[in-house]
Amino acid sequence: MREDAHTELKGRIAAARSLFVLTGAGMSAESGIATFRDAMTGLWSHFDPAQLASEQGFRADPARVWDWYAERRAGVRAAQPNAGHLALGAFARRRPGVLTLVSQNVDDLHQRAGNTDTIRLHGDIQHDQWLDRCARTPACAASEAQPGRPPQCARCGNLVRPGVVWFGEMLPPDAVAAAERAARGCDVALIVGTSGAVWPAAGLASLARRHGVWVAIVNPSTSEIDEDAQVVLRGTAAQVLPPLLAP
Ligand code: OAD
Repeated sequence: MREDAHTELKGRIAAARSLFVLTGAGMSAESGIATFRDAMTGLWSHFDPAQLASEQGFRADPARVWDWYAERRAGVRAAQPNAGHLALGAFARRRPGVLTLVSQNVDDLHQRAGNTDTIRLHGDIQHDQWLDRCARTPACAASEAQPGRPPQCARCGNLVRPGVVWFGEMLPPDAVAAAERAARGCDVALIVGTSGAVWPAAGLASLARRHGVWVAIVNPSTSEIDEDAQVVLRGTAAQVLPPLLAP
């Protein structure tokens, strides 16, 4: 990491009235949660996203997809926020109203580190929801489903699925709108641990840049959006964020 780049970024964050932070899977890598696209360790180097992260894949083999998510859910429950998550939590406590934290991650490590208002673009892996829209009034609650792989509604046969955004699905529109608003209106945008391969999240850095925001990336490797940033800090989230966000 270039020392002058780090010093400049730290100064800009200290002076910022609004700081936008977007995180991706690399944010949680040092908590032991696998990323998706890292060559050897990324989930999509071992598993087919079309089978495991799409509605079609779930309908084709619900038990397989349910079991895969059950394993990932257990991994998230066992994981702990790392020094990077904790630095963001401490920053928000120290400078209330400055940070807007947006995450593509479906784990809850930001929330457990204190950033309970994190904008979640890709859902929550611990959340259960029905696969199909419930036709009943009032709608059956997913929590009432009969246990199974996956759990199933005893009345209508609807299946429970994890509350994450799968390929081909819309992101929650309110979350996207809030993220775009924050990216456009901030003083500094910090993009941490994302490959920049998945849209619309990948477009937030260039959106900020087009609105005159100073954009910085934290990533140990190159990403597809490096050219959107004024500065790229080559390091990990747990190494770079604590000194960067400290007073
Ligand atoms: P990727 O797996 O595509 O990218 C992870 C990025 O984190 C890579 O650029 C790595 O270089 C970087 N990285 C690895 N270790 C790191 C560390 N310790 N500190 C900082 N960075 C590190 O993950 P995302 O960009 O988040 O969708 O992927 C976007 C979406 O694709 C995910 O949200 C997921 C996936 O399909 C859903 O879950 C809906």
